[in-house]
Amino acid sequence: MNNTQKVLKILSDSTNYLSGEKIANEVGISRTAVWKIVKNLQDLEYPIKSKMHSGYYYEDDNKLNEFIIKRNLVDNLKNVTFELHDSINSTNTRAKELSSIQTDSHPLIIISDQQTDGYGRYGRSFVSPSKTGIYMSILLKTQNEVLNPGLLTTATALAVARTIERNLGVTPQIKWVNDVLINQKKVVGILTEAVSDIESGSINQVIIGIGINYLSDLSIFPPEIQARIGTLQQYVNNAHLSRNFFIAELLNEFFELYSNYQSGDFIAEYKEKSYLIEKKVTVTQGMKEITGYVNDIDKKGRLVLHDGTILYSGEVTKVRLT
Ligand code: BTN
Repeated sequence: MNNTQKVLKILSDSTNYLSGEKIANEVGISRTAVWKIVKNLQDLEYPIKSKMHSGYYYEDDNKLNEFIIKRNLVDNLKNVTFELHDSINSTNTRAKELSSIQTDSHPLIIISDQQTDGYGRYGRSFVSPSKTGIYMSILLKTQNEVLNPGLLTTATALAVARTIERNLGVTPQIKWVNDVLINQKKVVGILTEAVSDIESGSINQVIIGIGINYLSDLSIFPPEIQARIGTLQQYVNNAHLSRNFFIAELLNEFFELYSNYQSGDFIAEYKEKSYLIEKKVTVTQGMKEITGYVNDIDKKGRLVLHDGTILYSGEVTKVRLT
C-alpha cells in the first residue's frame, strides 16, 4: 500500500475526526505530507472534511471506496480482494482477463463506477452510466468442487433481492432466471459466465456480473429500454444508503448463500419472491418458444411447467398477467 492508500484507509476506517498528527504518526510521514495527500484525495472527490483543531473526517457518500466496503463486510470475508476502477470496458471482461492469471482461490471483486462496453445476456449491451449505478463482477475460483453456474445465478438473484428488501424497505420480485424487478420493472441484471479448465473440461471458475440501477435517472437510458427498466433511486434516497454500504451488504448476503448453494435449499425463498409462479409464460430458447403455466422452480433452479416440461435455461419473453 502506498502512503495515499494508507491515509485513505485510516480515514475510511475511522468513525470520528482524526488529527493530522495522529495520521502522520501512524503512516510515518510529516503533517504537511498528510495535508497534501488529503488535498489530492479531496480533488479526486473523496468526501473528506477538514476542520480546524479537529483534523479530518471521512463522510461516506457516493464515491466508491474499497476501504468503506471492506469495513462493512462480515469478518470471514476480510480476505476477499477488490479491484476498483473509475471507468472500464466491462467488469466481466476484466474478470475474464484476471481468471487466467489469478492463482489463489480467494474471490476477487471487480467494481467500476462506469462501463463503456457493459454487456448482458444474449450479447445485449448494458447501459452503465457513471456515479449512479453499481457494476460489479465476482470471480469465484475453486480447487475442489465443480461450480454450478445455473444454481449460482438463482442464488445471486436471491442475494440481491434480500439486500434490497433488508436495506431499502421494498420487496422485489424475481423473474426467472435472474431479473430482479420492482413494480414489474427490471432494476437489476445478472450475467453469469463459466470459465472451464482446459485440461479437465470442468467449470472451475465462474464470473458473476451484477448491474444495478441504483441511483440512476431513467431519462438517460435509450427510449427503447425505458419502458422495461426501473431504478432504486427513490428507495435509496429515502434510506440514505451509499453504494459502498449496499455493495458490502450484497456481498455479505451473496457469500452466505454461496456457502451452501449447491444444496438448493434457498430455492424455497427464491420461489416466494418469484414473479412467475402460476402465471402463463413464454420462454424463448434460441429459435424455440415454449408456452405454459409455471408450476414450480425446482431445487436445481429449473423452471417446471404444469405439463411437466422442465426448462434449464431460456429467457422469459412474455408473461400473461392473469
Ligand atoms: C442482463 O440483464 O442481461 C445482465 C446484465 C449484466 C450487467 C452486469 S454489469 C457488471 C457486469 N459487467 C458487464 O459487462 N455485465 C455485467
